[in-house]
Amino acid sequence: AMAACFPDDRRGPPTGGAGGAGGSAGAAAGNVLAIPPLLEPVVRGDGTLVFELTAQEGASEILPGVRTPSWGYNGALLGPTVRATRGDTVAFDIRNSLRDPTTVHWHGMILPAAMDGGPHQVIEAGGSWSPEWRIDQPAATLWYHPHPHGDTAMQVYAGLAGLFIVDDDDSATAGLPSAYGIDDIPLILQDKTFADDGTLDPDRIPNFGIMGNTMLANGTASAVFHATTGAVRFRILNGSNARRYNLEFSDGRPFQVVGGDAGLLPAPVETSRVAISPAERVELVVALEGGDDVRLVTRGGGLDIDDGDFDLLRITAEALTPSSPVPARLPGPKPIHAPSTARERTFRLNGHDAINGEEMDLSRIDTVVAAGAVEIWTIENPVYAHNFHIHGAAFTVLEVAGRAPEDAMSGHKDTVFVPPRSSARIAVRFADHPDPSMPYMYHCHILRHEDEGMMGQFVTVAPGTEKRTPLRLALEG
Ligand code: C2O
Ligand code: CU
Ligand code: CU
Repeated sequence: AMAACFPDDRRGPPTGGAGGAGGSAGAAAGNVLAIPPLLEPVVRGDGTLVFELTAQEGASEILPGVRTPSWGYNGALLGPTVRATRGDTVAFDIRNSLRDPTTVHWHGMILPAAMDGGPHQVIEAGGSWSPEWRIDQPAATLWYHPHPHGDTAMQVYAGLAGLFIVDDDDSATAGLPSAYGIDDIPLILQDKTFADDGTLDPDRIPNFGIMGNTMLANGTASAVFHATTGAVRFRILNGSNARRYNLEFSDGRPFQVVGGDAGLLPAPVETSRVAISPAERVELVVALEGGDDVRLVTRGGGLDIDDGDFDLLRITAEALTPSSPVPARLPGPKPIHAPSTARERTFRLNGHDAINGEEMDLSRIDTVVAAGAVEIWTIENPVYAHNFHIHGAAFTVLEVAGRAPEDAMSGHKDTVFVPPRSSARIAVRFADHPDPSMPYMYHCHILRHEDEGMMGQFVTVAPGTEKRTPLRLALEG
């Protein structure tokens, strides 16, 4: 029942104007931005929040009058927003009603590897999986998506993705817009290409994979958001397979970046442009005035190719309820600091399918880390653009291409963009959940690269046991 308004009823009335359905002209008609519903948990006797998710096939009307087969969680496209607070224990009953195996990975969550939903936690077609863990990390906008080895790109492209918002005591009182769907707006940005028959075309470009020509916001094409408040917070996820978004407003207006992948910033950063690569999140607050009609756009992407300029969301404002200004200080976590004795490692991203010369092997442990340790990792990009994501960890970016990161990227993160022919240094804090037999992943989050093998595996183990940790896994099946 929860899925009833999403996505099938997503198309709102035209917003007026004489234009066609295209998203570019300011006066063009549009579709009301879908807001993923919040997933209601059942509360168990011990306080555990129990959520149900079903991965399923369906069909959506994304383009007017066109039926597009799509996949979603609890609905035909994308998934509901999961929300929980630091300290909560959460449990999931996940069913796979697809005809293919899948997994559900909690991107950005610091949790035991066995609950991570990576390529080892396969849910067979018709099967189920019930992970459970206690949330213990700062407030942040995380997400969930499939991670079956070799098939992640197509499953995400088909529509499987949702947000997972973590709150904490500080975020609740931070003074930021926080009415979900009113002035605190989730925004999953994706690009698709529609074939003539309405199906999603896996339009591949050399080296990077899918780069669509139609922009969707929460699965809505030509999306329009009618603002009702003087300030709106957008929790933006780059949910694309390969595209990098260079976000700005069509009139160049400044905005405040208040959060990144893995938490709020310690103070807002004013800017008029911020870029996010696949899987990165940015939270921003934009001020509006009555009568505004402004577009969130992307201009050029920053891969090695011309990604193009596109409208992502039109924002209209009529009578606005005043909002309080963004506070000068925010309760973001302190930067992760590496001790002088920190272990340093280097990961070289080769071509588009290997790291340090090796393709992903599900039975090989590439790296052994002491649970809870902070290490310095250097990611080297000899040729193409890539980004780099680490499971079960959060990091502070120390340097990109020899320079300190932009202020907007200075908070806790789990994914970092590394420009072509450059490198990044990061201080990484690993989960404190030792388990020598179940690995976490690190990989490029350009999904085609991940699928082709630009991924490695690490385990976190009790400090002092690194040397005797087996580097081979006995895999079932
Ligand atoms: Cu977003 Cu390994 O994942
Ligand atoms: Cu992840
Ligand atoms: Cu890559």
